Amino acid sequence: MSAELLVTGLGEVATPTGSTPRAGADQGRIRRLAGGEILVRDGRIAFVGSRGERERRWGALPDTPRLDGGGGTAVPGFVDAHTHLPWAGSRAEEFLERLAGRSYQEIAAAGGGILATVRATRGAARDELVAAMLRRLDAMLACGTTTAEAKSGYGLNLPDELKQLEAIRDAAARHPVTLVPTLLAAHETPPEHRADRARWLDVVCAEIVPAVAARGLARYCDVFCERGVFSAEESRRVLAAGRAHGLLPRLHADEFTDSGGAELAAELGAASADHLMAVSERGVEALARAGVTALLLPGTSFFLGQHHYAPARRLVAAGVPVALATDCNPGSSPTESLPTIVQLAVIELGLTVEEALTAITLNAAATLGLAGELGTLEEGKRADLVVLDAPNLLHLAYHYGVNPVRSVVKSGREVFRAGNLAPS
Ligand code: NIG
Ligand code: FE
Repeated sequence: MSAELLVTGLGEVATPTGSTPRAGADQGRIRRLAGGEILVRDGRIAFVGSRGERERRWGALPDTPRLDGGGGTAVPGFVDAHTHLPWAGSRAEEFLERLAGRSYQEIAAAGGGILATVRATRGAARDELVAAMLRRLDAMLACGTTTAEAKSGYGLNLPDELKQLEAIRDAAARHPVTLVPTLLAAHETPPEHRADRARWLDVVCAEIVPAVAARGLARYCDVFCERGVFSAEESRRVLAAGRAHGLLPRLHADEFTDSGGAELAAELGAASADHLMAVSERGVEALARAGVTALLLPGTSFFLGQHHYAPARRLVAAGVPVALATDCNPGSSPTESLPTIVQLAVIELGLTVEEALTAITLNAAATLGLAGELGTLEEGKRADLVVLDAPNLLHLAYHYGVNPVRSVVKSGREVFRAGNLAPS
């Protein structure tokens, strides 16, 4: 059972340190070790350091299986802390409409957008959602993700929200990627409740939240706090109902308009405030005071062609811990790749590659309550790690548009290795 491994021949080991989110100047202060080895015992990291030190402390270890790093860079397994993974169908036609000039909001107002995916997801059996998720999880793993959050929010009624959350549970049981489930029933108002939004929120708070909590199907409760979707007051109500049933709050905040979402996240001590493209200065200061992590999703700005990104440098300067995620969903960010998000974060958000690494590892893990267990390469943590085909960390951002992942190790076992050319 016990996973043992010695990762050798590395160009560099690069990792944040500690078990709490890193903010301000600390966000970019990571440990970098040229060469270096990583020893795994019982699925956990037993040692990170030079080969000489390893030999002094552990001896030659002739019986320990080796993973040859091939001169690459070892980093902690990536944590994708905001995804909408269990969906059916595609929105490729909507993408065409957007390319022709229609906006995401216009398409949503005409009954497309999120509601188009709700129709497809309601029509899919749980097993179809599991199969779709397993394909997406394979792609995530190949891009270095070893832990991910996954939200419901395309069911928008009790049976279909439960179906999505059960699909998350079932997919997690069949895949190496660890999944943390979030209830997002308040993602939209479904068509059958259009005339009475308050009634829909009654259903969410009095029926869906308790049923999901009683079945242990979610750890977090999320809400889309946005003009035209749910106000800060409505969002507060949903998140309070979640908390009353043991589901911790996190939220879609200030994505397109300043909706007071960041202030609400601060007031509630939310696990994260996500998106923040339109966050106000007051919102930034509130997050800083409350120590709430800003979870930025630059894939949506990019994919929606908005040329407008969250104020990442301002957030770092204010002392707000910054995390990054894909927002993997069929409408605004259909990607499983955190390396792509890092490339956007460095080019468009102005983060350094060190800050971006902390954002997809330690800080992301902290928003899921897992920073004591993973998110850094340090003794005692779970041995989730990625070997990049890169001589040093900088190449994660520099060599863009390709998948830089060579190997992925989960709890000390190699679970992915980049493929070779077909034999001729
Ligand atoms: O995070 N903002 C709301 N929800 C998703 C988009 C979901 C969709 O378009 O299907 C997001 O961007
Ligand atoms: Fe989202």
